[in-house]
Amino acid sequence: MNHTSLKFTLAPHFRISKLAVKLQILPAGTCLITLRFLMTFLSVFSCRVIQSKNEAFPVGSHVVAYCGWRSHTVCDEKGLIPIIAAWPKDISLSLALGTVGMPGLTAVYGLEEILELKQGETLLVNAAAGAVGSVVGQIAKIKGCKVVGSAGSDAKVAYLKELGFDVAFNYKTVDSLEEALKTASPEGYDCFFENVGGPSSTVALQQMKDFGRIAVCGNISTYNDTAPQTGPYPQMVILMKQLKMEGFMQNRWPHKNEETLKRLMAWVKEGKVKCREHVTKGFENMPAAFMGMLQGENIGKAIIAV
Ligand SMILES: NC(=O)c1ccc[n+]([C@@H]2O[C@H](COP(=O)([O-])OP(=O)(O)OC[C@H]3O[C@@H](n4cnc5c(N)ncnc54)[C@H](OP(=O)(O)O)[C@@H]3O)[C@@H](O)[C@H]2O)c1
Repeated sequence: MNHTSLKFTLAPHFRISKLAVKLQILPAGTCLITLRFLMTFLSVFSCRVIQSKNEAFPVGSHVVAYCGWRSHTVCDEKGLIPIIAAWPKDISLSLALGTVGMPGLTAVYGLEEILELKQGETLLVNAAAGAVGSVVGQIAKIKGCKVVGSAGSDAKVAYLKELGFDVAFNYKTVDSLEEALKTASPEGYDCFFENVGGPSSTVALQQMKDFGRIAVCGNISTYNDTAPQTGPYPQMVILMKQLKMEGFMQNRWPHKNEETLKRLMAWVKEGKVKCREHVTKGFENMPAAFMGMLQGENIGKAIIAV
């Protein structure tokens, strides 16, 4: 059977075009997947298999796929990850792109593998109402920590308080980020889960306790830069406070994914980790949703439902 696939391609300077592609007969070992949900940030999808010549991925099964921004894709198993076995019927498959997927794994690995967060410590997280940050803060609360989160709107701050953050503030409206961080935790921060980077990072590093640990997860404030940002440079504060700063990618611990996803699902089912999604309907609205995410419109994971 033939299907027509819609596909967005990004030309230089973010021009988006739409192509129609006729799909041919499936090669052995591959399957044809169709989008259910799409993550705006990366080309990661929650998909359903609709034709298959691969026994590991039968028709009707659900997978997470890393492929381009397209409605239909032919993949072999290298591009596919089965979602966890026995996915509960009452939990949306879109969470496979959020709390019970890559962003959830990112939160756990940053907290456990990089920061080695301990009970009683104080954690700072920015972009705190996003897919990663909101899970970071809630897991840190489960671990018995004090959690301070910053986000870019009053609605996001209210959401963080609902999630149990000890202190949350709107970094866009505070008079001084330095004062807001000092007021939130006058004794400083043991751990900093860094999602944003740029100048705000310099201010946050100054508020770390001696021997503080920083997990560099993302640098979203610089992703749209056309010229690289310059200093102030962090070496002096790292030296004087004897800080430990480590970047990480969540795909460093693939052997832990199965157990970690089960743990995340259990927290969701028990109501210990709550999730909100910012859902945009319609594949054709993906570019606008992507721009909106970069302007901070989303509370929780920004998802396209197809
Ligand atoms: N290392 C890894 O393996 C890994 C994996 C996944 C994600 N990440 C990174 O983790 C970070 C968070 O990802 P996510 O999926 O949670 O994002 P998300 O849910 O899509 O949310 C992104 C949020 O970042 C904030 N933001 C956007 N542009 C900004 C800017 N110029 N300055 C400051 N804040 C800005 C906005 O919130 P506000 O309104 O609060 O500003 C926006 O809602 C990103 O940096 C991402 O690249 C890393």
